[in-house]
Amino acid sequence: MEKPFLSFLLLLFSPTLISSLPDYYPSTKNILNPIDSCWRADPNWSNHRQNLANCAVGFGATAIGGKYGPIYTVTDSSDDPINPKPGTLRYAAIQDNPLWIIFSRSMSIRLRNELIMNSYKTIDGRGASVSIGGGGPCITIQDVNHVIVHGIVLQGCARGSSGNVRSSPEHVGHRIGSDGDGVTVWHSTDVWIDHCSLSESYDGLVDVTHGSTRVTISNNFFTNHDKVMLFGHVDGFAADKAMKVTVAFNRFSSTLVQRMPRVRTGYSHVANNRYDGWEMYAIGGSSDPTILSEGNYYVAPNNRYFKQVTKREEGNWKSWKWRSTQDVFLNGAYFVPSGWGSCSPGYSAQQQFYVAPGTMVPSLTSNAGVLNCLTAKACVN
Ligand SMILES: *[C@@H]1O[C@H](CO)[C@@H](O)[C@H](O)[C@H]1NC(C)=O
Repeated sequence: MEKPFLSFLLLLFSPTLISSLPDYYPSTKNILNPIDSCWRADPNWSNHRQNLANCAVGFGATAIGGKYGPIYTVTDSSDDPINPKPGTLRYAAIQDNPLWIIFSRSMSIRLRNELIMNSYKTIDGRGASVSIGGGGPCITIQDVNHVIVHGIVLQGCARGSSGNVRSSPEHVGHRIGSDGDGVTVWHSTDVWIDHCSLSESYDGLVDVTHGSTRVTISNNFFTNHDKVMLFGHVDGFAADKAMKVTVAFNRFSSTLVQRMPRVRTGYSHVANNRYDGWEMYAIGGSSDPTILSEGNYYVAPNNRYFKQVTKREEGNWKSWKWRSTQDVFLNGAYFVPSGWGSCSPGYSAQQQFYVAPGTMVPSLTSNAGVLNCLTAKACVN
């Protein structure tokens, strides 16, 4: 906990910005959260890109992505699912060796089938404006580990189609067609999704299932969508009992309906996120999941029938451990706790981070989503 906490304190006293958000707790200063303060103040961040891999907190803190591999620059926005051309995103993503993938210029990538990631990859959109989706399928992280996705717009992700897709230089596999998620995390570990902007997709924006664990979803901006995040495949799916996901410093806009997240069987630490209303509920679950809601900023929608933050999808939930601590509740929002005993995430020293009181969340999440970082300049505006 020491390192992120210290840098967090340092940033409290560094030059800050005027907030233009209509906050219930108006703040004149924006504070970099513990993840951002790890790299954004470095004016030379674009020459130190792989330092980003030291910045994750929570259960996915161990994700190193392509930290120990070379930089690979995507120059070509085209896509061929079976024989990807050198210079394309897919060519980089399927390689067996670690790669830190960046983009030579801004581009919109419309994939012709789901993008199947290989292990030890970072997709780093900083310094360019990169979007994936646009009516094509998006990212599948399946049976792999150590994947970081940072600074990508994932919008309009559609279902994949049945057919062959390459997953490594040696292997092309038959796929039945992906679900239409922004990011699917399927039986994978050490995954970090940070500073992405996700919206309007066919299924979930980020779904974590089939025994995936050690995942952090942070600093993202979610808009215009129904089922935002599902953690856990189906009720009673044993492998998801070991699932641990951290959801931190995200911003959930008022144009979302439900599942921020919906958790089945596993554990989720939901900390320092901003919720600007919802159509049905914010946090839901079934099959005895454990949820710690800590230091979030919940603004309920105006509809008086939907003020409750929480929703249980089945009746027998009195013993499920769902806790709220340091949360801020506005416009009538309320959290229904349940269960007994400790609900603490049990983080390692590397995973641990300082969770601020909910009142500070508008400032800590004010740059959620894709950032506009300029090279050769600190990324603090
Ligand atoms: C930026 O970082 C690179 C690589 O570490 C270094 O060679 C260069 O001198 C740095 N530039 C400045 C202005 O600090």
